[in-house]
Amino acid sequence: MTGAGRGIGREIALQLAQRGADIAVVDVEHETAEKAAREIGELGVKANAYDCDVSSLPGVEQLAEVVSRDFEHIDILVNNAGITRDRLLVRMTWEDWDAVLSVNLTGAFNFCKVFCPAMLKRRSGNIVNIASVIGQMGNAGQANYAASKAGLIGLTKSLAREFAGRGVRVNAVAPGFIRTGMTDSLSEEVRAAMMDTIPLGRFGEPRDVANVVLFLVSEFGGYVTGQVINCDGGMVTAR
Ligand code: NAI
Repeated sequence: MTGAGRGIGREIALQLAQRGADIAVVDVEHETAEKAAREIGELGVKANAYDCDVSSLPGVEQLAEVVSRDFEHIDILVNNAGITRDRLLVRMTWEDWDAVLSVNLTGAFNFCKVFCPAMLKRRSGNIVNIASVIGQMGNAGQANYAASKAGLIGLTKSLAREFAGRGVRVNAVAPGFIRTGMTDSLSEEVRAAMMDTIPLGRFGEPRDVANVVLFLVSEFGGYVTGQVINCDGGMVTAR
């Protein structure tokens, strides 16, 4: 579970743990990961914190060695780690572009590359990629983020086709506006404008996204693969 230290990732990890899953809490922020792992462990499952920058393939390979010693096998991979570096294209630097693509898209590739072979060998597994409505709609000031999330959707659909014959399902969730650290910093003006685009009339909570992940990785989602499930209060439908 990447980016599991806080926000949506932490909530997905807590909800999976409440249903008995052991959790490898992967995050680039050491303290955050440790704190989340302690909270998750209090639910009676095994929860270990691992420092890892998802954008580094050698780092992910090293992580896999440690994780494979600590856990028997990985049943579920949730690629959730994500960042924003919002700027209009004329002001966006190559570094802004590269940082967002490296974490949001290459990070998911790295985890699939390193952790999926074992799933394919066992002929069982579930991958959920946390995309965004922005990857479907685009957004002024978020060309890097939108491209990364659109890419993540393409990665999801391709891997679903590659892995289906081996019993591994691959899906994405596309959240709309979810109340986390990532969105807390937006101005009141931006938040009010966003609210106008949400038919259900409320911002989403991390729990809303976690609920969709729970469905996808459960037996209820057993015939679902290659899909992008929107969790956006109707935002995209409304357009
Ligand atoms: P957040 O900023 O609250 O949490 C992101 C977590 O990822 C943090 O714990 C952070 O330390 C970790 N992280 C960042 N870079 C990392 C790296 N290189 N390696 C490992 N971990 C790293 O964000 P939030 O809101 O919980 O978002 C989670 C995911 O949901 C992201 O992929 C985001 O793009 C996506 N999303 C969020 C929406 C929202 O409204 N909050 C809407 C649509 C999608």
